[in-house]
Amino acid sequence: MDQRVEKFTESISFDHRLYQQDIQGSIAHSEMLAGEGILTESEFRQIKDALLEIKEEIECDRFEFDFAFEDIHMHIESALIDRLGDVGRKLHTGRSRNDQVSTDFRLWVRDAVDRILDKIVGLQKAFVGRCDPDSDVILPAYTHMQRAQPVLAPHYWLAYCEKLQRDHQRLEDARRRVNSSTLGTAAVAGTTMSIDRTRTANSLGFESVMANSLDASSDRDFVLETAFCLTAISVHLSTWAEEWIIWSTSEFNFLDLPQEFCTGSSIMPQKINPDILELIRGKSARVIGNLQSLIVLTKSLPLAYNRDLQEDKPRLFDSFDTVEACLELAIPLVEKTKLNRSEIEASLERGFLDATTLMEYLIKKGIPQRNAHHAVGALVRGAMNTGKSLSELSLESFQQIQPEIDESVYESLGVENAIKSYQSYGSSAPHQVAHQIESWKTRLF
Ligand code: ARG
Repeated sequence: MDQRVEKFTESISFDHRLYQQDIQGSIAHSEMLAGEGILTESEFRQIKDALLEIKEEIECDRFEFDFAFEDIHMHIESALIDRLGDVGRKLHTGRSRNDQVSTDFRLWVRDAVDRILDKIVGLQKAFVGRCDPDSDVILPAYTHMQRAQPVLAPHYWLAYCEKLQRDHQRLEDARRRVNSSTLGTAAVAGTTMSIDRTRTANSLGFESVMANSLDASSDRDFVLETAFCLTAISVHLSTWAEEWIIWSTSEFNFLDLPQEFCTGSSIMPQKINPDILELIRGKSARVIGNLQSLIVLTKSLPLAYNRDLQEDKPRLFDSFDTVEACLELAIPLVEKTKLNRSEIEASLERGFLDATTLMEYLIKKGIPQRNAHHAVGALVRGAMNTGKSLSELSLESFQQIQPEIDESVYESLGVENAIKSYQSYGSSAPHQVAHQIESWKTRLF
């Protein structure tokens, strides 16, 4: 082979990461071949022992990688043949690299999914862990990045728990389709050897056996799905990171980020930069890009295996590595960042966060919603002109606009009263939030 072709076509530079899964798959395959009488028991033993030896060598950095062998599958098989000669040459009976690649990748993705699932729970625990210490903090909630209504800080923490829960469910669901065996579909049409696919599937812990060899050897849905699940996580993390970058500015000053998770500037001595948050936001670009690449990669590929599919690994590896690293840093950031209570509290005076509660007070007095909305608009305008908050307006000024208003109006005004007035399921009402905190604690701890 021309050296340039060798260099162009190799995948060992990235698929060496599949060595463990490749060995695990080959042991299961050879054990099955022995069970079927295609290998003798002694041949299976020799193969298994040699494969475990090779694994050990790879792990101790004693294994020689040589670009003359295209991928991890060829490396391991040729090392086996070096050791066992013809016995080693029997391993590849009844399978092809096409099903081998897919099997190994599925095993790798399954483990990686489990690591991400764990880290999602870790981050959820960090958010839930903030609920009790911050139970008395009220935050402004925003729409259009304009101050909207007050919420309890735990309501804010749990919003991210909910998003992460859907991420968790999506990944768990995708995992079922990752966890299906393609081993033994061989190149494309199956094999004339009497292999037992159920047996290899069981010994590798797969939940099911894929039913159609043409489909199985070409299927990369599991790659697209997990890449999308990772993208959803990354997008959620980017939202959170962006919010905290804004909240940590001196203009907002809502947050004190832990110093050991910030960086300085080489020229401006006073700077404390939120680089970790910025990189979590920035790295979402690669995860989104990887998904795009994978969709384009698989689009229009005719059945079944095509060499293009080799390009799936670098993209998905990168998405897993990136999201795992982001989750790993998000956890301590959520645990260690402090809410700047005095600044947040002082800022609650601004933005008429209780205006919607006042409108609903009027509705309860029998005023139609559109009229109530209009009346509160007028009250807010008056308060703005005199530099007052709604709770500082006199009863007369309320009654001038809306005669039905009485003393009880003051029970709806101010952020604390506004919070206490919420009622609906899923709202920031204290009893609703307390109930949600309890239910998250039982689910996670
Ligand atoms: N290195 C290739 C991959 O990772 C193996 C391809 C095996 N099949 C083939 N017909 N060349 O996809």
